[in-house]
Amino acid sequence: MASTRAATDRRTHIVGWGMAVPERVVNNHDLCTMVDTSDEWIRQRTGIVERHIAGEGETTFSLALRAAQAALEVANLDPAQLDLVVVATVTPDYAFPATACLLQDALGAEGAAAFDLSAGCSGFVYGLSVVADLIAAGGYEHGLVIGAETLSRITDWTDRNTCVLFGDGAGAVVLQANGAPGGILASVLGADGSGKDLLIQPAGGSALPASIETVQARQHTVQMDGRQVFRFATRIMPDASRRVLAQAGLSVQDVSLVIPHQANDRILQAAARNLGIEEERMYSNLSRYGNTSSASIPMALCEAIDQGLVKRDDVILLTGFGAGLTWAATVLRWSLPLPVPVPSRQMAFWRSLRYRWAQLRSRWRRWWRWADAHLFQILYDEEGRRKRRKHE
Ligand code: COA
Repeated sequence: MASTRAATDRRTHIVGWGMAVPERVVNNHDLCTMVDTSDEWIRQRTGIVERHIAGEGETTFSLALRAAQAALEVANLDPAQLDLVVVATVTPDYAFPATACLLQDALGAEGAAAFDLSAGCSGFVYGLSVVADLIAAGGYEHGLVIGAETLSRITDWTDRNTCVLFGDGAGAVVLQANGAPGGILASVLGADGSGKDLLIQPAGGSALPASIETVQARQHTVQMDGRQVFRFATRIMPDASRRVLAQAGLSVQDVSLVIPHQANDRILQAAARNLGIEEERMYSNLSRYGNTSSASIPMALCEAIDQGLVKRDDVILLTGFGAGLTWAATVLRWSLPLPVPVPSRQMAFWRSLRYRWAQLRSRWRRWWRWADAHLFQILYDEEGRRKRRKHE
């Protein structure tokens, strides 16, 4: 599927960004105490040196909330102005309700629709494309797109083939409609479900519901055919990138910076070679975070912006691949002057009040629902008819 936004005046721009990672860092040497591996092997074969791993009480939602609040701070936006909250994740807090709903409630985004999106490591770019199109179509003004994961919760820590690769984190962007030139220019999304077994969490769904046997067989953890995924990635990333650039009427030479999904430095090097782009234009922070699935692209984008690698009018290419199999690429022209002004204290204070208020409102609603259910039983019968008093 491809979409281009060149024909309309209404465009979608990134106006806020933020990321969050757990405090706890696990380096390659730590992993050597858990599985038969070495720092040298992990560095040479993947480029990863360390990763952040969620601590007790930290979840996909709590990381997403921190990233979202940071992005709203940069956008200087009242969460009540959000129309859409989309969380791309393969490690939601619950199968349902959606992590996006927890976030909508915690942010006090009272007017926002909220849903999760599952497209493996391509999830963030899928979300970005969907929300950008919804905003450009005219129905919505502001959207929040988050890629957030706690992959450590579905990692088999006895499997050296996978446990060295993954990390936890979240990245968020705020999208806004306006008529300024630039913004999201085009997207290419794709899937090939015949590759479903190459990267899969087999149990816990309707195909293999949770049971003692599935837990004992470690079927609730990531299973991967690394070599096949590697081959797929090196082919699909350049292919999707070329196609999205063609959609936007641009060439590889126009691209200032590529923000690829951070899976393996050798995949990034192969993609750079294949695209004919110098490695310096291919952003990598893989060594510090590992593969954080749908969080990796927004986290890399945040760091690239904060390191001054993004300037106004730059063409930025986001490209990813993942479980499904899926792939996605988006090209955008950066439209915001950088650095953004520090938000006024008043507005920052207002947002902190909004978060407090959202907490209270949530508690109050839960209490009211409980009270309502009990009052309802006293006053009404099962069919909703008001009960008659004895003397009536
Ligand atoms: N430490 C030491 N040795 C390891 C190891 C580890 N952590 N993991 C695997 N090995 C071993 C293998 O057992 C194998 O040994 P053998 O030859 O005796 O069987 C050997 O190293 C080579 O394995 P291979 O699978 O060929 O390694 P590789 O060079 O393909 O690298 C990956 C493995 C997983 C790093 C690589 O295939 C990869 O990055 N694939 C893509 C994964 C990915 O991106 N997944 C997420 C997609 S979103």
